Amino acid sequence: MYKIVHKHVIALDIKKIDITAPDIASKALPGQFVMVMPLALMHAIPMTIIDHDERRGLISLLVHEVGPATKALGGMSITDEVYQVVGPLGQAAQMGKYGLVICVATGIGAAQILPVCRGLKKRGNKVVGIIGAKSKKELMLEAQMRVVCDEIFIATNDGSYERRGLATTILQELLNKYKVHRVYAIGSVDMMKAASVMTREKNIPLRVTINTYMVNGLGTCGSCRVKIGGGYQLACMDGPEFDGHLVDFQDLSQRMNTSGDWENNIRPVGVKTTGFGGLRRLFWPSTKK
Ligand SMILES: Cc1cc2nc3c(=O)[nH]c(=O)nc-3n(C[C@H](O)[C@H](O)[C@H](O)COP(=O)(O)OP(=O)(O)OC[C@H]3O[C@@H](n4cnc5c(N)ncnc54)[C@H](O)[C@@H]3O)c2cc1C
Ligand code: FES
Repeated sequence: MYKIVHKHVIALDIKKIDITAPDIASKALPGQFVMVMPLALMHAIPMTIIDHDERRGLISLLVHEVGPATKALGGMSITDEVYQVVGPLGQAAQMGKYGLVICVATGIGAAQILPVCRGLKKRGNKVVGIIGAKSKKELMLEAQMRVVCDEIFIATNDGSYERRGLATTILQELLNKYKVHRVYAIGSVDMMKAASVMTREKNIPLRVTINTYMVNGLGTCGSCRVKIGGGYQLACMDGPEFDGHLVDFQDLSQRMNTSGDWENNIRPVGVKTTGFGGLRRLFWPSTKK
């Protein structure tokens, strides 16, 4: 049913695939994601819906092959069928007419920011994109970002393409130069934290997307909890986009660094694919304080 109909290599270890999923394509909004189980009995993984075509019943995913599930998905061929795709999940990104909006992304965050830029542009904003990558080989979606943004800036850590350095250096320069009405940041915790400091100083609203580990994406396991404004929320149900000035980045950083252990040590077989309300109550008594 979830047949792969197109597949392109985008960058090193990164593939774009289009899958038939008419129900999801008819409802998807920018910022939402799907839980994908590439093969039977494999764990499900969250993947952003980077584009959707309601008429043809297709959704597009960008897969960065980092582990077993993403490698299995990225290794599938045209006409192969993905075992399960559940969604659209999560809240849509906040969209309105704000004026000048900067969208900054690093790494796989470029996949997540693309539909947000597209949505913001459709609403009449002037959209400036900043993409950061380790090197030119790892840079992705430059052409697509050029189509949806009014202007884009690129930074590579090793200087192999465009500006050498960090995406946040460009962000700081633009914030100093122009009256910016809103910023969206998706990428590493350090990058989003830096964007939070810079925008808070200038009183500019910031939206960030949180990529915590997600076991089922259904709000029943608590694995994706994130500290927001002193309380906890679930990235899969309440997010993944949040107010970047309320996110506790220190807590997020600790959680991202220890989640692997959480998974290896206490995730029982089956929780990978099924939600357990009991587990949530055991490890995660409430979602909001
Ligand atoms: C809302 C959301 C949207 C996402 N969208 C995309 C997307 O569009 N494209 C894409 O390629 N990936 C996306 N991811 C990340 C993707 O889900 C993980 O890379 C995937 O779950 C890894 O599974 P695996 O079995 O391949 O590797 P694993 O063996 O589970 O992990 C391999 C490595 O990746 C790290 N990792 C695992 N999960 C995450 C995570 N959530 N964030 C950061 N590092 C992680 C692990 O620490 C480990 O080092 C998204 C994550 C979230 C929460
Ligand atoms: S993945 Fe969010 S509660 Fe389970």
